[in-house]
Amino acid sequence: MFQPNLLKDKIVLVTGGGTGLGRAMCERFLSLGAKVAIASRRQEVLEAAANEMSAASAYPVLPVACDVRHPEQVSTMLDTVMQHFGRIDVLVNNAAGNFISPTERLSHRAFDAVLGIVLHGTVYCTLELGKRWIAAGQPGTVLNIVTTYAWTGSGYVVPSAAAKAGVLALTRSLAVEWAKYGIRHVAIAPGPFPTEGAWSRLAPTPDLHEKLVARVPMGRVGDKSELANLASYLISDYAAYINGEVITIDGGEWLKGAGEFNELEAVPTEAWDRLAEMTKKGK
Ligand code: HXC
Ligand code: NAP
Repeated sequence: MFQPNLLKDKIVLVTGGGTGLGRAMCERFLSLGAKVAIASRRQEVLEAAANEMSAASAYPVLPVACDVRHPEQVSTMLDTVMQHFGRIDVLVNNAAGNFISPTERLSHRAFDAVLGIVLHGTVYCTLELGKRWIAAGQPGTVLNIVTTYAWTGSGYVVPSAAAKAGVLALTRSLAVEWAKYGIRHVAIAPGPFPTEGAWSRLAPTPDLHEKLVARVPMGRVGDKSELANLASYLISDYAAYINGEVITIDGGEWLKGAGEFNELEAVPTEAWDRLAEMTKKGK
């Protein structure tokens, strides 16, 4: 389905690109001809990932250490990437922080830790690069990685839910405001995809892991390659008229939780004869 030159010569910057879903996206972008820079806090993780990905790619991956919570680091990181590649065509705001906790156990610092990475970090990267794109008259694409509770909300991950909701609002707002500059905004809302970063903080025990899987109508978690393929399409020129949209990739998970009667799945087949009898009589 994908032409090998789908992303040829596109310069793509992926925050959090050294691990998990970010890395899976980078590997796919590279295989489709993109040139890739990755940015996150841990230099050694970035360098190891960049070396491994570069070995399997036509173009070396550029690793740049940056904490997206600090706007001055974001600015320096963008300088480095633009000096190296000459420009940036696509920004993937993928870096995130998250953990499960009853909200009343959280300090304001815990809230700040997550909001700082997810909401402020996304804003700082988007704002700084957006200004540069606008000043240069250059078009661009921003892909934000959110999650389905950006619109439903969710207990026990409240800082993340509040932050991702903000990122979704940012996506839809700037999709309209910056369309006139040729800047396109899209988002992906993944359901559960096992990654070390997410699983260690959200499903640290086997029973919590099973609970996550049980929520998915398709009966399985996502494969990273499935998300990477969707991301590749969304940043490609074939998606040029998709702007302000969020695409869910969760095996139907959030709709299962939302549908009033979906739990009738648990009714045994033999009970349906009796229930049909009762409902046909209107009782
Ligand atoms: C309660 C916690 C906590 C926890 C940290 N804190 N972890 N409170 N429960 N599990 C509190 C600390 O006590 C501290 O508050 C404050 O948060 C800051 O903690 P630090 O460790 O100093 O923060 P920092 O080093 O900046 O690390 C940020 C982090 C960490 C978010 C806390 O987990 C991280 O680096 N995460 C990055 C990777 C990640 O989270 N990946 C998963 C993304 S998955 P006090 O008051 O004690 O000072 C995802 C999936 C969504 O988003 C959807 C899934 C379906
Ligand atoms: P992950 O591997 O933990 O990815 C998070 C990345 O963010 C890491 O590479 C981390 O690198 C980077 N990061 C964290 N804080 C940062 C900061 N302050 N500055 C710069 N980079 C920072 O987890 P993942 O599962 O792949 O998550 C990727 C994205 O998918 C996130 O947006 C997440 O919310 C979303 N998502 C994941 C799932 C899932 O099931 N996995 C579901 C829904 C949504 P450093 O530690 O080196 O900084």
